[in-house]
Amino acid sequence: MISRDEILANLDGYDAKKAKIGVVASHSALDTCDGATSEGFKTVAICQKGREATFDKYFKKYYNADGSIYRGVVDETVILDKFNGILDPKVQEKMMKDNILFIPNRSFVSYCGIDAVENDFKVPMVGSRNLLRSEERGDEKDYYWILDKANLPAPKKVEKPEDIDNVGLTIVKVHHKQKKLERGFFTAKSYEQFCQKSEELIKDGVIDENFLESARMEQYIIGPVFNLDFFYSPLEEKGSKLELLGIDWRFESSLDGFCRLPGKQQVELENDGILPEYTVCGHNSATLRESLLDKAFELAEKYVEATKKYYDPGIIGPFCLQTCVDKDLHFHIYDVAPRIGGGTNVHMAVGHPYGNSLWRREMSTGRRLAMEVRKAIEQGRLDEIIT
Ligand SMILES: Nc1ncnc2c1ncn2[C@@H]1O[C@H](COP(=O)(O)OP(=O)(O)O)[C@@H](O)[C@H]1O
Ligand SMILES: [Mg+2]
Repeated sequence: MISRDEILANLDGYDAKKAKIGVVASHSALDTCDGATSEGFKTVAICQKGREATFDKYFKKYYNADGSIYRGVVDETVILDKFNGILDPKVQEKMMKDNILFIPNRSFVSYCGIDAVENDFKVPMVGSRNLLRSEERGDEKDYYWILDKANLPAPKKVEKPEDIDNVGLTIVKVHHKQKKLERGFFTAKSYEQFCQKSEELIKDGVIDENFLESARMEQYIIGPVFNLDFFYSPLEEKGSKLELLGIDWRFESSLDGFCRLPGKQQVELENDGILPEYTVCGHNSATLRESLLDKAFELAEKYVEATKKYYDPGIIGPFCLQTCVDKDLHFHIYDVAPRIGGGTNVHMAVGHPYGNSLWRREMSTGRRLAMEVRKAIEQGRLDEIIT
């Protein structure tokens, strides 16, 4: 892992007054660029050739003669053959010369690989570099490990397929065989059904024959999904350092299409061997009943504490606790994103309901991030939010 001192030494070469916000152009990049624009920053989107149009054309920023913004959120694009071209030392040099403060998102880590993010990417990053690894399911100190240390509720782990008979409905989390970054998830209510479904999915090329080696199996929580978009501010000195900005949930294909069919038709499809897939393709906004908010904050406070204890310096900026709420109104955390969430675009420009109410203006996650950067620059405290 690159030492924080090395990154801070790179930051020393920056002209903070000219700082720009940079991001890999995918995932939540529009929200990041939109928020940075609202806070008066120039933005740079690092694109992959063939996937640049959204950033380079449709959301490109234009200015009026008086310097005010005419339209758009992306000032500059860097178009690389592959996203991981961002690791090229020359590209990194250029980013640092350009005073780019980099916002990590899930695409950045997925396309570059966590080892390179930790060891080879030297650009000052807003957020917690060391925590990004906790998202790699199956790693020694992954987010399940943190949840356990923090005494936070996670769905019960199912050790082996035979145990499904005791636990009941189980979700099996595996990588999609062909769509490498997507999910080959499925559910089973018994060992017998596990065998049937996995055989079907192997036959269809959705999962690999050896899928069990890297599978995570856990109790399926029956209840709605709430992705809690939190923000932790190391800089805040008056109010709480922890903020709830908003809540989102996902549209998944083909699962959501299944859900909109009559039950009989769903069973018929399954009988024909057509099983739903879990590919994320959009998000929506949500709120929680107020009596659940205290509990949500309690979960997040515990998570923050645990990251401080086990992942020095702990979480910085946005993070997302992905939860299901069961019939007795208990939260179960099934995933944690220690960075900007994938669903924050739903609040882009209009702001998050809770974030807006807290800050008395439109406060998306992207804007909150940029606001923290601006504050850090004004107070000469950039070193506290950079790793
Ligand atoms: N234990 C669980 N119980 C019920 N639903 C779950 C559970 N774990 C995951 N899910 C569902 O699967 C989706 C993706 O799960 P997640 O663990 O976040 O995988 P990934 O981060 O790879 O997308 C969630 O949005 C949720 O709908
Ligand atoms: Mg997730």
